[in-house]
Amino acid sequence: MAVQRTFSILKPDATRRNLTGAINAMIEGTGLRIVAQKRVHMTAAQAGQFYAVHKERPFYGELVAQMSAAPVVVQVLEGENAIARYREVMGATNPANAAEGTIRKAYALSVGENSVHGSDAPETAAIEIAQFFSGNEIVG
Ligand code: CMP
Repeated sequence: MAVQRTFSILKPDATRRNLTGAINAMIEGTGLRIVAQKRVHMTAAQAGQFYAVHKERPFYGELVAQMSAAPVVVQVLEGENAIARYREVMGATNPANAAEGTIRKAYALSVGENSVHGSDAPETAAIEIAQFFSGNEIVG
C-alpha cells in the first residue's frame, strides 16, 4: 500500500475541552504523521460547503451550526494506508458504537459532537485537503 494523505478535523467539542494535544498524541501513536495543521474558525458558509454531501440529511443544519460555533483544527495526515488507518483510530461515527482505544470512545460526547472527522476515500480526501490547504502549506 502506498503512502496516502487524509484530511482530519479536530472538532469544536475537542478544541473547547483542550483535547487537541491528547488527540494528536493518539494520531501520532498510530504512526501517522501530521504534515499540515492549523486552527480555523469556520463560517457557516464554509461548514455548509464542507458538509454539502449531507445537505439533505435531517442533521445538516445542526451539523453546520456546531462546526461553525467554535474553532477547529484542520490537519493533513500522511502515512501508509492513511485514510483507513485514521478511520480505524477515530472509531465509529456514533461513540456508543466506538471500540476501546479509539478517539471517539475516549472523547466523543455524541454522534454530533464526535470530536474528529476523517476523509472516507481518496477522492474526498483530495477535495477536503484543497478546501483548507495550499500545496506549500503541506510539508511531508
Ligand atoms: P463526520 O465524520 O464529520 O461526518 C458527518 C457528521 O455528521 C458526522 O461525523 C457526525 O458528527 C454528524 N452527524 C450528526 N448526526 C448524525 C447521524 N445521525 N448520522 C451520521 N452522522 C451524523
